[in-house]
Amino acid sequence: MSPAYREAYSRINSMVIVGEGLADLNFRRLALLLPAERNELLRLAAMEARHARDFLLCGRNLGIRAVTASVLQDEAEHLDFGERWLGDRFPACAAAVDACCQAGGARGSGHAAGPAIPGGNRF
Ligand SMILES: [Fe+2]
Repeated sequence: MSPAYREAYSRINSMVIVGEGLADLNFRRLALLLPAERNELLRLAAMEARHARDFLLCGRNLGIRAVTASVLQDEAEHLDFGERWLGDRFPACAAAVDACCQAGGARGSGHAAGPAIPGGNRF
């Protein structure tokens, strides 16, 4: 393996490992929010965790170390973006969301969509 190949593989492998790990975490978070779907979401989380482990082992078998620190920093950047984006827009629709929740939510209430987020999609 050439040094260039090792470097490229390390970068790609790092992104995949981080992505699979984040998918695992996100499925576990969803399982907490959607108790009716808990078992299926936890099954999917476990699958993503296996993917992360398998990719980690691929790198080890090739003697290539994944360097995940920079990938984690990149991921944190767009997570921060999402938080800022929602933080900027949510106050304008918070009362409408609260009213919707107090009324039992949009599900089954006959509403096609919930309140609009300024500059974004509807709930
Ligand atoms: Fe996966």
